[in-house]
Amino acid sequence: MRLLIIGGTSFLGRAAAEEALRRGDEVTTFNRGRSGPDVEGVEALRGDRADEGDLAVLAGRPFDVVVDTCGFVPQVVGRSVRVLQGSGAHYVFVSSISATPTWPGAPTPDGLDGQPCASDAGPEDGDYGVLKAGCERAGTGSDARLTWVEDAFLLEREVAPWTELPLWMPKGQDGDHVWDAETGAAERAGLRVRPVTDTVRDTWAWMQAGGRVPKEPPHAHLPRHGIDPDKEQRILTDWSSR
Ligand SMILES: NC(=O)c1ccc[n+]([C@@H]2O[C@H](COP(=O)([O-])OP(=O)(O)OC[C@H]3O[C@@H](n4cnc5c(N)ncnc54)[C@H](OP(=O)(O)O)[C@@H]3O)[C@@H](O)[C@H]2O)c1
Repeated sequence: MRLLIIGGTSFLGRAAAEEALRRGDEVTTFNRGRSGPDVEGVEALRGDRADEGDLAVLAGRPFDVVVDTCGFVPQVVGRSVRVLQGSGAHYVFVSSISATPTWPGAPTPDGLDGQPCASDAGPEDGDYGVLKAGCERAGTGSDARLTWVEDAFLLEREVAPWTELPLWMPKGQDGDHVWDAETGAAERAGLRVRPVTDTVRDTWAWMQAGGRVPKEPPHAHLPRHGIDPDKEQRILTDWSSR
């Protein structure tokens, strides 16, 4: 595996570099050369991540994973995300529990949305935790926030499984085995799968670059996909005012 660590010479980043080398991965680090010596065996690249010109050294390089250990300003994290977008890498952003809205005064449950902060916020737009939440969003390349809604709630509001919400198939809708399809033969023939988050991110990047899905389905017998934005908004409002 080819790893890029933004940082990689001090504490957490250094440990990640050493462990990756121990596992036999190829490791590239990118830092300013101030915080410590390079880990022996890495390819060490120098630069300041805040400087777009310095980041150019990473452009066009193929990586499988990027580990970003030193992101504190969403604007700055956005720069490295954009430079590395074409690399095909999975972007791991090291955040902080301070990004959550509850910690430390209340328990911090799984899946909690981070504090409000835009993905292009600057250094003056919040404190450490707020900006970390914005950095998390910059790491996804989008301001979108997920709202998890129960199946029954959507069915009551006549959301059509699979078409209005693509790939959504609640139990009891005549599709209980929708994901129960063997792929062994395809895998033996060379099929390789990747995380769905990578597919979503790449599709979004393609759409941002001008890619468009056809307005009409490619065949008259196929249903149109997607939900009317007004209907989606009504459901989100209902959900948040329960
Ligand atoms: N320590 C904690 O208690 C704690 C708790 C929660 C979350 N975290 C998070 O964990 C992450 C890692 O923290 P750590 O203390 O273990 O640090 P680290 O990753 O070991 O060290 C920071 C690295 O980033 C590099 N760096 C800093 N600014 C840079 C810049 N502008 N351009 C390029 N490289 C830069 C440094 O090298 P140069 O200085 O040479 O550039 C160094 O290699 C941080 O994001 C922190 O917010 C830490």
